[in-house]
Amino acid sequence: MITIIAAMQEEIDLYLSKMKQETQISYAGITFYRGLLAGKEISLAVCGIGKVNAAMCAQLAIDHFSPQALIHSGVAGGLAPDLKPLDLVIAQSLVEHDMDTTHFGDPLGQIPRMKYFDFPCDPTLAEYAKQSAEEAGADFRTGLIASGDQFVASHEKADFLYSQFHACACEMEGAAIAHVCCLNELPFVVIRAISDNARTGAFMQYEQFLSQAAALSAQTVMGILEKI
Ligand code: ADE
Repeated sequence: MITIIAAMQEEIDLYLSKMKQETQISYAGITFYRGLLAGKEISLAVCGIGKVNAAMCAQLAIDHFSPQALIHSGVAGGLAPDLKPLDLVIAQSLVEHDMDTTHFGDPLGQIPRMKYFDFPCDPTLAEYAKQSAEEAGADFRTGLIASGDQFVASHEKADFLYSQFHACACEMEGAAIAHVCCLNELPFVVIRAISDNARTGAFMQYEQFLSQAAALSAQTVMGILEKI
């Protein structure tokens, strides 16, 4: 069993259109779709927006389905200046950019008393993701994704996240899912397609590219499933 989690319904449309033998079950208000994708047993859910929703969904999936791997897909704001809408980012690791105990001497993003600064994705799954992105003909890069409970839409914040964390993309769930997977010692990978540049005007770009970017991200995950 492999679990796939996305934040929004728009980000699972492609999976649902391809899922075979679909059944549904709900826990804590989250619907999990169970069925076959690329011949693999899958549990698929929309976790909702933000880190708490994402973390809860990941733990529910782990507790109820004991997956062998978890894949998180969706859209993101591009922070690296050369990223453009419909490029792909395969996370090498993820950080919670809004965790701030700097007053205690911790670096921004460090969760106090945890051994991790950033949460590393499984290298094998990331390699499958790269192969799948190449097959899809997508421009992609690997790097750090910064997650926080904030839609980033200003030059100041985007440039800050880029320079502070060397993050290539920002979103609102990935690091929370990564955090839960690391604590459960579960291999995971996060794939995000760029919907906007996280700067002034990001919302309009986001609206324009959301469905195409969501489909690209899901298509890349379908390629991963074929390789697992
Ligand atoms: N997801 C997609 N675009 C985003 C942005 N600009 N900020 C946070 N999450 C996003």
